[in-house]
Amino acid sequence: MPDERILVVDDDPSLLTLLKMRLRSMGFTVTACGSGEDARNLAQEDSYDFAILDLRLPDVDGLDLMEELHQSHSNLPVLILTAHGCIPNAVQAMKKGAYGYLTKPFDDKELQESIDKALTTKRMSQEIHRLQLLVNELYGLDNVVARSPQMHAVLQQVARVAKTDTTVCISGETGTGKEVIARVIHCNSPRVSKPFMAVNCAAIPETLFESELFGHLKGSFTGAHQNKRGLIHSADKGTLFLDEIGEMPLSLQGKLLRAIQNREILPVGGQVPIKIDVRILAATNKDLEQAVREGRFREDLYYRIHVVPLHLPPLRERREDIPSLAQFFLKRHAEHHKKVVKGFAPEAMQSLLTYGWPGNVRELENMIERSVVMSPQETITSEFIPLSTQEKGQPGSLQPLTEAKEAFERDYLQGLLRTTQGNISRASQIAGRYRADFYKLLKKYGLHPSDRSTDNSPRY
Ligand SMILES: Nc1ncnc2c1ncn2[C@@H]1O[C@H](COP(=O)(O)OP(=O)(O)OP(=O)(O)O)[C@@H](O)[C@H]1O
Ligand SMILES: [Mg+2]
Repeated sequence: MPDERILVVDDDPSLLTLLKMRLRSMGFTVTACGSGEDARNLAQEDSYDFAILDLRLPDVDGLDLMEELHQSHSNLPVLILTAHGCIPNAVQAMKKGAYGYLTKPFDDKELQESIDKALTTKRMSQEIHRLQLLVNELYGLDNVVARSPQMHAVLQQVARVAKTDTTVCISGETGTGKEVIARVIHCNSPRVSKPFMAVNCAAIPETLFESELFGHLKGSFTGAHQNKRGLIHSADKGTLFLDEIGEMPLSLQGKLLRAIQNREILPVGGQVPIKIDVRILAATNKDLEQAVREGRFREDLYYRIHVVPLHLPPLRERREDIPSLAQFFLKRHAEHHKKVVKGFAPEAMQSLLTYGWPGNVRELENMIERSVVMSPQETITSEFIPLSTQEKGQPGSLQPLTEAKEAFERDYLQGLLRTTQGNISRASQIAGRYRADFYKLLKKYGLHPSDRSTDNSPRY
């Protein structure tokens, strides 16, 4: 029997002791209490696979308690204990969502059967969920566009690390797909059926950081009205994705390091550490080595998370991915916005291919979504890809061949006019063109023989 956790709530101490004994001998981990209030608190602090509730509790009706528990744990199977002869109550319990009921007194066999039945259903639904995730994972990789050799190399690394518990640090500019890759790693790991918790270290205010990450106990500070489970605890048995780890306050980096090393966390106000089993993935768009040099990031934490570094190159360095990404986003957003848009006109694609994409894949996706929404036709033309020339001229951007050729020709002609001091005969001779053709070229670029810096007087 796997170590499934059962919460038992009954105000009869002798029955509680008996139940605890029986359930433990069946191999379950049992937590027991005698009131609705205690049950609520316990359910908030931990997760359970099954609950057994007495119908009559001193402070609350068992069915009301069940409904409350279902609000936060909708899949929790609940078995209600009723007194002998209370059939109407039992019927009501089933109507309200109890998995089953057991009439006191009951024997071991009845107890075991009821639990087995409920847990088989629960295990089955977990297995289905796991299979769904696996299917998603198979199709999930379809959702990661990777045409370029650089992305193939990234996916090869992903395949190597996914099955292990290794800590991976994913670096890359904003919008390059760091979170996508973290999810792919999780979905291909043995932890796939457990939580993937993403924590954006840049988004949590410093004052709340510790309690968000490690949890807190009721009353540990003003405003801590209830016990709160931390994000690390919520990721137990799954994957914790520490996004923008470079933004984590220095004061907390030591605590995180300790948590990773000792595999336990201490909630704020707590005395007893809680054991945790999480796989850590981290991401950063900052240069962590520089942060270490500048004393903003702890060196020991850096080495702890940098077991396997994985770098996502910016989009401008893997332009082969652009056409597939563009088509992929076009399909996604056309379906989402219910529009019939099928492809890109050549100039539109050319703009996409040559732009610098400082915001990387995210910027590309936004641009495509906007163009899908705005385009009145099935084919997106360049007017719906408003990438300004100024943006095109950003570092790393490439010009289309025609534009590059034209820019070169213009420069060349201006240089020639300067060198020959506007002497068309000589200039055309050097260029290897007839005079008439040379004039046509000048006209094409709006140039005049006098267009030279040294001498303004025309010379023919
Ligand atoms: N290879 C890819 N294939 C398909 N979609 C991708 C790919 N890479 C990124 N995306 C999409 O681009 C967007 C940005 O990706 P993601 O959020 O993973 O980037 P990030 O590197 O975490 O960005 P930031 O640094 O801003 O947090 C998402 O919508 C994601 O689905
Ligand atoms: Mg991100």
